[in-house]
Amino acid sequence: MLLDVKKLNTYYGESHVLQDMSVAVKDGEIVALLGRNGMGKTTTLKSIIGLAKPKSGTVLFQGKDITGFAPYKVARTGIGYVPEDRRIFPNLSVLDNLKMGIKHGKEFQTGGQNQWTFERIFKHFPYMKARTNQRGALLSGGEQQMLAIARTLMGNPDLLLVDEPTEGLAPVLVEEVRDMLEEINKAGVSILLVEHNLKVALSLANRVYLMGKAHLGFTGTVEELKAQPEIRVKYLEV
Ligand SMILES: Nc1ncnc2c1ncn2[C@@H]1O[C@H](COP(=O)(O)OP(=O)(O)OP(=O)(O)O)[C@@H](O)[C@H]1O
Ligand SMILES: [Mg+2]
Repeated sequence: MLLDVKKLNTYYGESHVLQDMSVAVKDGEIVALLGRNGMGKTTTLKSIIGLAKPKSGTVLFQGKDITGFAPYKVARTGIGYVPEDRRIFPNLSVLDNLKMGIKHGKEFQTGGQNQWTFERIFKHFPYMKARTNQRGALLSGGEQQMLAIARTLMGNPDLLLVDEPTEGLAPVLVEEVRDMLEEINKAGVSILLVEHNLKVALSLANRVYLMGKAHLGFTGTVEELKAQPEIRVKYLEV
């Protein structure tokens, strides 16, 4: 198991936002984490990467216990995080935004197939090359999203956590972001994806987790979910 999250309990003040939340990602998988607004999907990602501190439970990554590690330490173990708000630097060029994603230190120089360089980014995603000198502020929402993902790749993650990458994007850009994630996965990076767009999520994922309020409601393959429409009604449709 690449990522094995077991029985996390996370609070915001008195509010018990994650109740025994578990999720796992195998090497090479795309796993989708779905559920209605406010169920705790973002909090699950934040509890993995150290932005939220679980009171109990464990986060194992490549067999190592990283529970409660600070975000920079989690990044060093090989987990990349693309937050919902993208955080592109508006006054920096596309190239300089990408440079901000480079992580220094030997633990980031994998030397293996997951080593990302500008050349490799441009080869996989040519539209990025065409915009190297453009300022972040001048990119469309979809281009900013793709840049945010590419910037995280520059840190050579083995696992990418992506929060709502297609939110607010026009349909054609939704497709482009979807295709980008598929390509990244084919290039050897596993992905834990939080996504509201069910069509996108189910077209990418090997397995899905559906969150009910604060806890796990359903887990299975995409085929299993498709065979049980009542589950979709219970956890997804409003
Ligand atoms: N920083 C915070 N302080 C207090 N409560 C918070 C905080 N962040 C989130 N919450 C609450 O925790 C619960 C879970 O929030 P979370 O953002 O994890 O849900 P989500 O599933 O990602 O929802 P969405 O689909 O809207 O992004 C919600 O009730 C939310 O209001
Ligand atoms: Mg969220």
